[in-house]
Amino acid sequence: MKTLDELLQEGVNGRRVLVRADLNVPLDGKNITDDGRIRAVAPTVKALAEAGARVVVCSHLGRPKGAPDPAFSLAPVAKRLGEVLGREVAFATDTVGTDAETKAVAQGDGDVLLLENLRFNKGETSKDDTERAEFAGQLAAFGDLYVDDAFGAVHRKHASVYDVAKLLPHYAGWLIAKEVEVLSKLTGKPEQPYVVILGGAKVSDKLAVIDNLLDKVDTLIVGGGMMFTFLAAQGHEVGSSLLEKDQVEVCKSYLARAAELGVELLLPVDTVTAAEFAADAEPLTVSVDAIPAERMGLDIGPASAKLFAERIAGAETVFWNGPMGVFEFPDYAAGTKTVAQALVDSDAFSVVGGGDSAAAVRTLGLPEDGFGHISTGGGASLEYLEGKTLPGLDALEK
Ligand code: 3PG
Ligand code: MG
Repeated sequence: MKTLDELLQEGVNGRRVLVRADLNVPLDGKNITDDGRIRAVAPTVKALAEAGARVVVCSHLGRPKGAPDPAFSLAPVAKRLGEVLGREVAFATDTVGTDAETKAVAQGDGDVLLLENLRFNKGETSKDDTERAEFAGQLAAFGDLYVDDAFGAVHRKHASVYDVAKLLPHYAGWLIAKEVEVLSKLTGKPEQPYVVILGGAKVSDKLAVIDNLLDKVDTLIVGGGMMFTFLAAQGHEVGSSLLEKDQVEVCKSYLARAAELGVELLLPVDTVTAAEFAADAEPLTVSVDAIPAERMGLDIGPASAKLFAERIAGAETVFWNGPMGVFEFPDYAAGTKTVAQALVDSDAFSVVGGGDSAAAVRTLGLPEDGFGHISTGGGASLEYLEGKTLPGLDALEK
């Protein structure tokens, strides 16, 4: 895989560089609520611009259905990117249409242009190879070279991530290089004890990663909504908590395999419950043996949080993906906060795997530099740890 460092050595002055970024940030209307992904890719864009490249940045935002939809416009992102870069960022109101073409042609050396949302075009995510290739061809017309730095999207076989690399000389940006360097440590032989903490709503999203990591870890901690399917597998009643009935047997098999391997699979001992899914629902902490039938668990309880924090304190390597509870509700945020704080306090090499857990870290006001690495990829970091071939990385290797 050729990297940005090599490209900068070759020199980019006056050359047109198409950069795929993952600027898929959370928005509240037109306000960006977490600009982590913008800041993460900025060094790559800045280095190219400072070296005199004519930079055309492209990204998706959300999941529009292959046609323009103002709710998913990248316009607010262009503005923020400009602030972060400390230089003007032009914005094209289409992706490969006349506005994009006109603005690209007008670019001078060192100028940055952001194209409108890739997913306003059917070809971007099409399952049809020809349709995707056609759109990739239109995108490739914007660059003499292609730099992929959209780590959060490398698990997608999309035109801008996969097909375009076949058409232009291609390089990995600094963010992708860094993410791969860090995550490859977690799939190799990380320093032990190695503790993995998984949370989030659905156990079905995490099965493959559990499967791939179970024989590599010393302790696998399970919290969040997915814990109830594991608790049910242990024979507990879980009230009206999230439960994936069709996954109970799989969870049983993981509990059995962990026991065989001598791996500790650690589940919560208590949970903070609510009568309904609402921020103002009265919290009640109960033991996992005594979850009332009409209540749902929305967080791990304090005894569990303490237990989890102790395991984290004793670790040399920690990977965390998925909140421990509904951290958006202040009464149900303590578990996530305790776990996150334990990572900050530990001397372990700690990696936070993207999406919700990265947002939780920032929402809860924890210092980003307290973690070894905060991945910008949710699905991408999980699929990497599942040991899958990721189309975007595969394309850069070829
Ligand atoms: C993400 O947020 O996980 C990435 O930006 C990829 O987005 P997607 O899941 O909509 O493909
Ligand atoms: Mg730390």
